[in-house]
Amino acid sequence: MLATLKPQPQDKILQLIALYRDDPRPGKVDLGVGVYKDADGKTPVMAAVKSAEKLLWERETTKTYTGLAGEPDFHAAMARLILGDGFAMERVAAAATAGGTGAIRQALELIRLAAPGARVWLSNPTWPNHPAIIRYLGMDMAEYRYFDPDSCAVDFGAMMADLERVAAGDVVLLHGCCHNPTGANLTLPEWDAVAELLVRKAAVPLIDLAYQGFGDGLEADAAATRALAARLPELLIAASCSKNFGIYRERTGILLGIAADAGAQVLTQGTLAMLNRMNYSFPPDHGARLVTMILNDPGLRAEWLSELEAVRLGMLDLRVALAQALRRATGSDRYGFLAQHRGMFSRLGLTEEQVGRLRNDHGIYMVGDSRMNIAGLNTKTIPIVAASVASVLG
Ligand code: LMR
Repeated sequence: MLATLKPQPQDKILQLIALYRDDPRPGKVDLGVGVYKDADGKTPVMAAVKSAEKLLWERETTKTYTGLAGEPDFHAAMARLILGDGFAMERVAAAATAGGTGAIRQALELIRLAAPGARVWLSNPTWPNHPAIIRYLGMDMAEYRYFDPDSCAVDFGAMMADLERVAAGDVVLLHGCCHNPTGANLTLPEWDAVAELLVRKAAVPLIDLAYQGFGDGLEADAAATRALAARLPELLIAASCSKNFGIYRERTGILLGIAADAGAQVLTQGTLAMLNRMNYSFPPDHGARLVTMILNDPGLRAEWLSELEAVRLGMLDLRVALAQALRRATGSDRYGFLAQHRGMFSRLGLTEEQVGRLRNDHGIYMVGDSRMNIAGLNTKTIPIVAASVASVLG
């Protein structure tokens, strides 16, 4: 049986981890996978997470199973973080998931059950795992234009023109903030126009919220999601705690299913629990418990907020510094967009061949579409990266 398996294509982002690890050059620079790194190139455990872990070690008396959809306290804390205080929580069904990817996967399975023929619309480009999972599940998908490679900004006119073709009951996957891979995001008035279109089309948004707190701030990064939640009768939100709590390997995420009324909420909640049971039974608990403790304890929360804000502001500084260094190194104003973009990523606009030369000749690793992880930079590497980019352009 096993000998009949076909070789699987490697994930283009995860492949870079191994390539980078195996590169013996001391000056190599990793701008590949979306993991935060400090000025020393380390991905530290946040102090608030360490404090919560210590408290948990002291207080936890059992490791027996949690609820099948995770703990209600985690659902409530995350729903408040994402939707704000005033939201009608009786409309919200929730399930803890194995990371943000787990939430995307469960969301798609939920869609397939509720609306087997629904087409899922993806931005072009998007995180490559979105189409990969949809294809794996055998679901129908379509693309809407999103990014203008000349201006390196959102092509909003093209996006809206494409979304005019969405049919009733289709699902539109949107990046709630910090678009991956482009770093280019909609303005709030544009989000309002998207909400109006989705209402008019009777389509359902699926919001991928993997970087809340990495763009314009924790509240600002939730504003688009809240604007949609205020207008749409139904929406799905797949949120990750990997980045904003720095707990990548704990696999902590949540799927929120916002239903039109309390009756549909009950059905959604029951189905989310069933999907967890079918896929892995109980979701991972450790990270979700830490997140709940941090969000519900004023001291821990304040500590976490200041750490998260330092991470965010550090990335903004790196953006400005890289834009300036590239202007000096290339003599072109083209890279100003880096300072306008938000989140961990921007696309530099290089060809695959130029990205290959950066890796082979300069030991600088980024995804083949020239997506770079801004958090992988530091003040020492910025001039090196800028000079290397200038040299592959020439
Ligand atoms: C990324 O886009 O680099 C991250 O979301 C990590 C991943 O799983 O791809």
